[in-house]
Amino acid sequence: MSPSQFNLSQDQIPTHWYNLAADLPTPMAPPLHPGTKQPAGPQDFAAIFPMNIIEQEVSTERMIKIPEEVREAYALWRPTPLRRAVRLEAALGTPAHIYYKYEGSSPAGSHKPNSAIPQAYYNRQAGIKRIATETGAGQWGSSLAHACNIFGIECVVYMVKVSFQQKPYRKSMMQTWGATVHPSPSNHTEYGRKVLKEHPDSPGSLGIAISEALEDAVTHPGTKYALGSVLNHVCLHQTVIGQEAIKQMELAGEDPDVVIGCVGGGSNFSGIANPFIRRNLTEGKKYRLVAVEPTVCASLTQGELRYDFGDSGMMTPLMMMYTLGHDYVPPKIHAGGLRYHGMAPLVSHLYKLGLMEAKAYEQRQVFQAAMQFARTEGIIPAPESAHAIRAAIDEALAAKEEKRKRVILFNLSGHGFMDMAAYDNFLGGHYVEEK
Ligand SMILES: Cc1ncc(COP(=O)(O)O)c(C=O)c1O
Repeated sequence: MSPSQFNLSQDQIPTHWYNLAADLPTPMAPPLHPGTKQPAGPQDFAAIFPMNIIEQEVSTERMIKIPEEVREAYALWRPTPLRRAVRLEAALGTPAHIYYKYEGSSPAGSHKPNSAIPQAYYNRQAGIKRIATETGAGQWGSSLAHACNIFGIECVVYMVKVSFQQKPYRKSMMQTWGATVHPSPSNHTEYGRKVLKEHPDSPGSLGIAISEALEDAVTHPGTKYALGSVLNHVCLHQTVIGQEAIKQMELAGEDPDVVIGCVGGGSNFSGIANPFIRRNLTEGKKYRLVAVEPTVCASLTQGELRYDFGDSGMMTPLMMMYTLGHDYVPPKIHAGGLRYHGMAPLVSHLYKLGLMEAKAYEQRQVFQAAMQFARTEGIIPAPESAHAIRAAIDEALAAKEEKRKRVILFNLSGHGFMDMAAYDNFLGGHYVEEK
């Protein structure tokens, strides 16, 4: 039997995060203050984030040391497995080799704890007692609930209403780890009440939930806000994925031609891609990096590159990013974690510079890929992650067409055990592509 698992030992958990800002060929445009429209400085973020996190947000230091307590918490599930999808390859009849990094083995079931753990840690270091956040699919909220539980911090989560209804057990997970969960838009904030008054049936969106969590943070003493994607420090924390994957691909004796990740706000893609982009920029490598998004919320492939707010309530600093507009409310697709109007400024910058590619898929194509993966590799993927699987399968089919080997690596960002309602709809033939 040839090996299909390439695993690292716990002492190989990365000791540093990799900061791509240090190697960018041109610097990113700065965030702007929402009122003055002047470049926002660290003080402009101080109401919502502790200073130790703000320092990471603006840092251009290449390698940032991971605190030992964070590495110890990472050791609950890291290093994550790297597997070769030999059964999927056989089913496709492709000469391609398909590898996947599996982030679904974390306590919350996705890559999100990679940033939740350090964010809770840095807040505790800064003496913060309570954190407010938003969650789309429920993955980030459950990750932060778990992390806050580890570091003894109270956690309040505004959960996008459609996900709250579709995924009641995500709410139970958060409550199990001690968090309080409100469906958003809610009656707990002024902004939520305003949305409910204008749109009583609003399904909610990440943009609305972010506004509610921000308002909660600035109106409750001792409370800060935490974001699960988009910002530089979140993308930074996720680079443990790509650093491990590089070592694991070496164990497998192969180098990927293409590295793929799905994109909501851009954090798991950055996590797997940035350490490979570093090699492209500094070692003359030629990895292709592909970000995959849903056609109904396609900020990279259909959005506009401009300054926009990160939330619907226009409370965040303005960020230079590909955006569909801060007031865009995406349709109720099951990949709740990909329903975000914008894209991480870092990913937007890479896309603008032509250092990566992007593609969009319809939900039906994505679910077909999810089914094929579950029926060959066994793991039932999160609907978000299935976007990356779709692109990986298409790369493998292109290799078959060309009759040439292609080495494909994708990030399987989470499992879909809390998404069985979506599978139920698909299996029952009720899946409607919402435009
Ligand atoms: C499993 C999974 N993958 C991907 C994403 C998308 O987020 P990001 O682009 O920040 O990785 C989410 C967001 O909730 C998610 O839950």
